[in-house]
Amino acid sequence: MHGDYPPRMPHRRPILVTMALPYANGPIHLGHLVEAIQTDIYVRFLRSIGEDAVYICADDTHGTPIELNARAQGVTPEELVERFGAEHRASYAAFDISFDYYSSTNTSENRAFAEEFYARLKAGGFIESRTLEFNFCESCRRFLPDRFVRGTCPKCKAPDQYGDVCERCNSTYGSTELVDPRCAICGATPVRRPSTHEYFKLSMLGDWLRTYVATPGVLQDEIKNFVDTWLKDGLRDWCISRDGPYFGFPIPGLENKYFYVWLDAPIGYVSSTARYCRESGRNFEAYWRKGAEIIHFIGKDIVYFHTLFWPAMLKVAAYTLPARVVVHGMLTVNGEKMSKSRGTFITAREYLDKLDPTYLRYYFAASLSNRPDDLDLSLRDLKNRVNAELVGNIANLANRVLSFAQKRFGGALTALPADERSTELVRAAEARYQAIEAAYRDLDFRRAVREINALADLGNKYIQDSAPWDLVNQNRDEAMKVITLGANIVRLLAIAMAPITPKLAHDLERQLGVERLSWRDGKFDFLHHTIRDATPLIPRVEDEALQALVVGPPAPAPAPAPASAPAPAPASAPAPAPASASASVPAKPTITIDDFAKVDLRVGVVVAAEPVPKAEKLLKLSVDVGTETRTVVAGIAKAYAAADIIGKRVVIVANLAPARLMGVESQGMLLAAGPGGSDLTVAEFARAVAPGTRVK
Ligand code: 2FM
Ligand code: ZN
Repeated sequence: MHGDYPPRMPHRRPILVTMALPYANGPIHLGHLVEAIQTDIYVRFLRSIGEDAVYICADDTHGTPIELNARAQGVTPEELVERFGAEHRASYAAFDISFDYYSSTNTSENRAFAEEFYARLKAGGFIESRTLEFNFCESCRRFLPDRFVRGTCPKCKAPDQYGDVCERCNSTYGSTELVDPRCAICGATPVRRPSTHEYFKLSMLGDWLRTYVATPGVLQDEIKNFVDTWLKDGLRDWCISRDGPYFGFPIPGLENKYFYVWLDAPIGYVSSTARYCRESGRNFEAYWRKGAEIIHFIGKDIVYFHTLFWPAMLKVAAYTLPARVVVHGMLTVNGEKMSKSRGTFITAREYLDKLDPTYLRYYFAASLSNRPDDLDLSLRDLKNRVNAELVGNIANLANRVLSFAQKRFGGALTALPADERSTELVRAAEARYQAIEAAYRDLDFRRAVREINALADLGNKYIQDSAPWDLVNQNRDEAMKVITLGANIVRLLAIAMAPITPKLAHDLERQLGVERLSWRDGKFDFLHHTIRDATPLIPRVEDEALQALVVGPPAPAPAPAPASAPAPAPASAPAPAPASASASVPAKPTITIDDFAKVDLRVGVVVAAEPVPKAEKLLKLSVDVGTETRTVVAGIAKAYAAADIIGKRVVIVANLAPARLMGVESQGMLLAAGPGGSDLTVAEFARAVAPGTRVK
């Protein structure tokens, strides 16, 4: 039963909680934070009720995209994943994600576990080698993974589709079935070449998987339905090897073959736990060998891996099976998929520049249920909720009560009042506290937030009705009792809020003058105590900060100082003084407004950029001008790396006659200022003006 009160004694079976390992190939963004915050809230709640819960994560470091990205940036994959590893840790720390351990999949432990899992699969007869034909790019001299071949969908004939699934008709196919295939790296037409690969015969485990996913509590109903259809349609065997060059672990005994990233990624949960245990002196076996309660939090997009492949691997290798796979929905921002060109692809760092992480934690908690529904970050809604509830209701009650206690009683608390209204309040508040606990246990944080607000409402109403500011003049003792009861509600709120807004809760503990609270401290025995301090807990969300968040220039190049960044000006050439430049430019003859009106200036958003081969000054840009995407060739390559210009909201001369530059047709011109070379600044808008808007 959920929500029994007083809280049942902890069962002390260790609980291991994970969130999906983020790829070490880009910065942490708001989508990652939904999951990190959801998982963190649950782990903090478990710790508060006395469970032995650890929160384990790592970076997912292998695979072709990381290898190619490193190459494009002129660094080794190890350097790239190192850089993002540091960024990821810092971003999560800033959002108070309380990992017990954060590792990487590129460790010797992970390699050893990957080899062990593979050996066990092989020994059990679950691995079969098969030779099939694959796309091979002769100019890149590599086999092309599905996502690196593009071509026409064999079913609906939509052009420019990936090698595994058509985004228009949703059909899946083998990448050699694509019509008119092209290498996504260099554009060449690949040839077919045979290669031998290792397949995990998942189909052998179909019956076992059917039983496993039907185990009560393992899957949410919606997810169970999904998985059932996959199981009914029949399981395809899974290719777990990749040809070199590949950034990953070589497969023992095979020439130039590597484990597919999705084989060693979930094993990262195990190897990260092993490191945690080694460093903290805990027993690894107790987690992965002797039935700890393992709970994975993941997004909707990786259900297949976590409900079929991963349990099957664990089963064969005789490791502890996940007791629960909790799936959350996908995040949209202001109702739409996060998008760089709309400025809604918000990284953790960009958020941190503008707003307090506590707001986001609160807002996500208020949006998350235990169902895998998508959730929307509406910035208006964030502001309204945070200001009305977190600041206006919860923090307000705390400050009202504590500052009154400070001002009138030197912070001293006394006994509880004995009148009927007060006893009634205690009973109602206890019921709310139990309901909050039940909501947390059910992973229904939205409901927990509602119940927390109901509790704060009770407190605010009680203080309002009791009017201690009047009462104190007639009956000081009674007013002190009213405030004491208020302070007890505030203490309940500090405990109840701690999983969601730990910083705010700890600040409240400090003001209350208490040590770290846990769930069982939620009783009305906070009496004859002296409060330490009373300061407002958190400011309101301001419009300016919100606007700056979405309309500010979109994500800069994620990695610091990529190799493709503009070369610094040679030290011997002094940079021209910016101010003097304008003085030396002669004015042009006067024109009429009609002359000016002939120039069709438009706002454009740069959606893609790449260097033009053999032209070191030129970048080829794809610019969204509202009605279409234009190719614009711009002489800015010395001043901007391709990655730096993507997402910028620029000014385009839209009616300039097309011109060919180095073999590429340019359908417009980009406005920029400066003498040229590396000293050039592209004109851009800081606010989110829609692409296509006329500039006048
Ligand atoms: O989809 C992703 O972002 C993967 N990096 C998740 C891996 S989760 C686990 F299996 F490692
Ligand atoms: Zn190629």
